[in-house]
Amino acid sequence: MTKRAPLPVVVLISGNGSNLQSMIDGQASGDLPIDIRAVISNRPNAFGLERARRAGITAEVLDHRGFDSREHYDAALLERVEAYAPGLVVLAGFMRILTPTFVGPMQGRLINVHPSLLPAFRGLHTHERALEAGVEEHGCSVHFVIPELDAGPVIVQARVPVHPDDTPETLARRVQVQEHRIYPLAVRWIAEGRVRMDDHQLLFDGKPRHAPPVVRAEDELAAL
Ligand code: GRF
Repeated sequence: MTKRAPLPVVVLISGNGSNLQSMIDGQASGDLPIDIRAVISNRPNAFGLERARRAGITAEVLDHRGFDSREHYDAALLERVEAYAPGLVVLAGFMRILTPTFVGPMQGRLINVHPSLLPAFRGLHTHERALEAGVEEHGCSVHFVIPELDAGPVIVQARVPVHPDDTPETLARRVQVQEHRIYPLAVRWIAEGRVRMDDHQLLFDGKPRHAPPVVRAEDELAAL
């Protein structure tokens, strides 16, 4: 069997970039058959830019403050991203709502990690809202991005328990540990050609999948 070429990837960030780091580490260890061609941040001081440079990856800034509308920013972002001809664009803590100007041409090649068990708690402040709602379980979801916010087909989710003494910070930390497991897993599935989105539907090994796999902290991911 001929070996597939690594999937060209562009990662978009705004901040710390711990999810970006999980992709960099996966590529370096050989677990992820990807080639991160560039990391682009809308914030010049994002620490993730430093993580990219340390790994020898091109790091660019496209500051949203230089643009007079979301559409103009998104058109410029699209041009910069397309210059790298990515097969996949990974949103890793990219803290901007993207308009159809960007999402339309990228659809099927654009994924995000969201810190909740979607469809619960779309939008911001998910950990605070989960605590306020008194849920017993919380978690994170990796999903394809469609124009509607946090609404695209879910590829994989991870659950964590909510503890009685949790604060938004302790809960966020527990969730992030799981993000760093399931986000690379979803990227690997896409890079291996196992997962794709077709007409807003998730196909897993060529078959429609309506309920995504849900993992727990103790689960061994290799079995999936
Ligand atoms: C993650 O917790 C993710 O759920 C949210 O933004 C955060 C980014 O963290 N979308 P990092 O920059 O990857 O460390």
